[in-house]
Amino acid sequence: MAPFKDRIPTYLSRVEDALDARLPAADAAPEGLHAAMRYSVLGGGKRIRPLLCYATGETLGIGPAALDDPACAVELIHAFSLVHDDLPAMDDDELRRGRPTTHKAFDTATAILAGDALQTLAFNVLARGDGPGRLEMLRILSDATGSHGMTGGQAMDLAAEGREIPLAELETLHRRKTGCLIHSAVAMACCACPSLDADRRAHLDRFAANIGLAFQIRDDVLDVEGDTAVIGKTQGADAAHDKSTYPALMGLDAARRHADEIYESALAELEAFGAAAEPLRWMGEFIVRRDR
Ligand code: IPE
Ligand code: IPE
Ligand code: MG
Ligand code: MG
Ligand code: MG
Repeated sequence: MAPFKDRIPTYLSRVEDALDARLPAADAAPEGLHAAMRYSVLGGGKRIRPLLCYATGETLGIGPAALDDPACAVELIHAFSLVHDDLPAMDDDELRRGRPTTHKAFDTATAILAGDALQTLAFNVLARGDGPGRLEMLRILSDATGSHGMTGGQAMDLAAEGREIPLAELETLHRRKTGCLIHSAVAMACCACPSLDADRRAHLDRFAANIGLAFQIRDDVLDVEGDTAVIGKTQGADAAHDKSTYPALMGLDAARRHADEIYESALAELEAFGAAAEPLRWMGEFIVRRDR
């Protein structure tokens, strides 16, 4: 089989079309809210979480049609999290995916409401579709989004501004604010494969949780050494807000090495799958080596 990389353009246009079809029409009232939702989701982003869903599907022999709903659902939650993350009361950012953030392109109230509606749309997409494992997918995605997952991690992130926190606390914060949602992309794809045994599922759970942590460490590193034009968001924003990050706590080199170690431990979980896990290995490498 050709390498996963060769199929990425096809998956990217697939998920773009699938998201477009699931978002409210731009001309349906209230038009401003729907325009803000579409602006926040379409036409940008690396689509890492949907790609992880499809890559897990390939590893398990599950075709993409069974995964379009979870792939869209996790990306809708991700887009909602970005809209709220950028708000003045949170990270107060003006640039996202190389464009004005949603509250800049629209207004703060519209951005709050767009985030709210994107969140409920994500769960609606899962509940409306059919196929195996839907209820379990809903449980996984709501856990990953809620106060023990992304939302809780965001609360910890804000509470950690301007203070030095222990490494164990920073790891928990990162696992929650970012790792949980990345894990959910893989875990929901597992739900579409009823024949997956508990042992192999546990390997995929650990792979996904660790690659999710490595993803956020890489994001922290890129905030220091990335290029605004490439990352599509303002470089140096973490330092400006005195955020608790891996580079701030352990230094840039140590943060890079730490991301590599976590990546290696994630890869070890894929050994049980042999060559079939090539798509997930490719995604893992992309996540720790990316420049955007
Ligand atoms: C950015 O996520 C927010 C984090 C969780 C670090 P991505 O780097 O996946 O953002 P897009 O979707 O590609 O813009
Ligand atoms: C965001 O982390 C995590 C989310 C839940 C959105 P960051 O605040 O570091 O993400 P960026 O750097 O703004 O994309
Ligand atoms: Mg943030
Ligand atoms: Mg931010
Ligand atoms: Mg960041």
